[in-house]
Amino acid sequence: MYVCNCNGIRARDVHFAIEAGAKRPKDIFASQGCKAQCAKCVCEMREMIHESEHAYAMAAE
Ligand code: FES
Repeated sequence: MYVCNCNGIRARDVHFAIEAGAKRPKDIFASQGCKAQCAKCVCEMREMIHESEHAYAMAAE
């Protein structure tokens, strides 16, 4: 499933980038060697980052 249609970034690419330390959508684009185009995917990327941080926080408790 594509998260970013403009750059062909898949959900698994986003997850890998987050695991590698991406904290912002900008970091995810950088990990893929591209930049935001239309930016429609930025909200979804933020949600994925937030969900991941929440999951880490829950695991740490
Ligand atoms: S869908 Fe990601 S920049 Fe357009």
